[in-house]
Amino acid sequence: MGKGILITFEGTDGCGKTTQISLLKDYLSKRGKPATVTREPGGTSIGDIVRRILLHSGGIALNSLTETLLYEGCRAQLVRELIQPALERGETVLCDRFADSTIAYQGYGRGIEIETIKTLNRIATDGLTPTITLLFDIDPKIALQRTSLRKNSNTGGENEERFEKEGLEFHKKVRQGFKELAKEEPERIKVIDANRTPEEIHLEVLGHLKRLLSV
Ligand code: TYD
Repeated sequence: MGKGILITFEGTDGCGKTTQISLLKDYLSKRGKPATVTREPGGTSIGDIVRRILLHSGGIALNSLTETLLYEGCRAQLVRELIQPALERGETVLCDRFADSTIAYQGYGRGIEIETIKTLNRIATDGLTPTITLLFDIDPKIALQRTSLRKNSNTGGENEERFEKEGLEFHKKVRQGFKELAKEEPERIKVIDANRTPEEIHLEVLGHLKRLLSV
């Protein structure tokens, strides 16, 4: 695989990872090290269309396996169309969610067999593993309060709606799933306490990345 660096950002809904991505992107660009930012599901034209199906399908019931395959389909496209070429060019890629999300949400959350998802992940990512994964860990109850506070912003209401549809129990299982993954791969997955101010969290993010990015 190319010489670039793939950094993925993971965590339950409302954990604040998107804010951290933009703080890191700004930090890097100020130091003359621009990064390519993308997200899952989405990041490509077809991925954005599938994102709408996955996250805004209204009353349409999606079977859990169908949902899993749609996430994996988006991933297969994103890896081949955007991430692999960027890494080949030596770029730093910041990706908002990646393969670990499917294990946590569809595996631990919905009950799809973990080994099945790991196999699908290997196929979709073409064996690509993030250089480092930052896991923003927060009690889902606190995250829900935070998203409620953002209710009047553009995405706050939509996130809160999604959160409430799944319920607190679902998000607790997802959080547990992420923690299990971090235990399995402590070298790659760094757990960050996300129940702090964005500035404090940003400093910890930089601490994990300083050597890797030479910044
Ligand atoms: P995201 O846009 O990151 O929303 P948020 O900022 O609220 O976390 O994620 C969209 C949703 O997609 C989120 O609820 C998690 C879900 N998701 C899965 O269930 N499986 C997956 O494989 C991925 C990538 C996302």
